[in-house]
Amino acid sequence: MNFGAEMKQFRVAKSVVINRSDDGFVAMNLMNKSAFAIDPPLFEVLAGIGDAAGVADLGERFPDYDVVELEEALAALEELGAVVALGSAQHEADRTLNARWLFGAPALGLHLMTRDMEFASAAESEDGQKARMAEEPPPRARLGLKDRAVIIDLPDPMADNELIALMAKRRTNRLPQATPIALEALADALFAGLGIVGETSNVTGALPLKMTPSGGARNPFEAYVVVRNVVGLAPGAYHYCGLAHALEPVNGDEPPALSALIADQDWADGMAAMIVLVAHFERTMWKYRDGNAYRVVLIEAGHIGQNIALAATRRNLTACPTAALSHSRIEKLLGVDDPLVAPIYALALGVPGQDPDVRVYSPTDRRIHLNL
Ligand SMILES: Cc1cc2nc3c(=O)[nH]c(=O)nc-3n(C[C@H](O)[C@H](O)[C@H](O)COP(=O)(O)O)c2cc1C
Repeated sequence: MNFGAEMKQFRVAKSVVINRSDDGFVAMNLMNKSAFAIDPPLFEVLAGIGDAAGVADLGERFPDYDVVELEEALAALEELGAVVALGSAQHEADRTLNARWLFGAPALGLHLMTRDMEFASAAESEDGQKARMAEEPPPRARLGLKDRAVIIDLPDPMADNELIALMAKRRTNRLPQATPIALEALADALFAGLGIVGETSNVTGALPLKMTPSGGARNPFEAYVVVRNVVGLAPGAYHYCGLAHALEPVNGDEPPALSALIADQDWADGMAAMIVLVAHFERTMWKYRDGNAYRVVLIEAGHIGQNIALAATRRNLTACPTAALSHSRIEKLLGVDDPLVAPIYALALGVPGQDPDVRVYSPTDRRIHLNL
């Protein structure tokens, strides 16, 4: 008998969720993304653990089971992350995360299970789409007019509107030129996305205001820049302070290839810099304690990204957005080590090349769509 193991007390990890699968039930530990089939006896043992139990307690609760078997089952469950030993580092990490995470288990699942995913390459994705097209066409990308007899044709928005004309020029261009970008262009993009332009106040005191809206004015995002080819700025990773409108180096390390930070999308390697938006979920959680607030944070990234892209467009640059992030690699580079602080969205800035696939509509094209 191993008395050390017998004394060890276990608790079911709070980060474990149980899902139905085709062949039964699958338990997943959201923290380490481990998934394992769970059959009825194992279910019973997990449920039998209650607040905490060791082999001896389980032996009493399940007299039909052999103690050695129970010991082995617990060891296997610990290995899988289904149970944590009281006082262990895993127990502490599981306990603190679940005490701090206030958006609920479904949002925690989305947050943790979709990290560091493996994506198909562009060529694989194209092949997959071609194969799918052979089976069924993709859903229509936009609604047409239903009844052409009753339509109100609207004034031309591009006729005399510099803002809309600029917005219309924004494009994701994955054919970057190996040309440096100006520091002023990077500064514009950062300021447009996260620059602080004022403040408001409420019961909590002063709240920063920026050019993009923020759910509850909680401003969960910080921007970091990975610089490869910006005039006057050494390659490296920097944090942007929107209040001071200034950059500070994160570390003195040589930055990795940009593609290494976004799931090996190699078009990024020709880009001059990449802005990474990192969410500090606790800022929003402090006010909103429900799963919908996870959406609130993600939506804000879109607002910030759009402003960055428009500022880049005005400097004749492209800002390629991506949510296909290599989270762990980014976190390591930036020195971020907290499950409640996570990179969400990145925009790579560069000088665009000619994209033969893009055709720009004229007002006449729109009239053709109207069938006028
Ligand atoms: C949330 C989001 C994620 C995106 N992720 C990627 C990506 O991982 N890789 C990529 O090449 N483009 C990505 N894009 C860019 C889209 O492919 C692009 O916006 C789309 O093709 C339309 O082109 P446009 O941006 O020029 O209008 C993303 C766009 C959005 C909004």
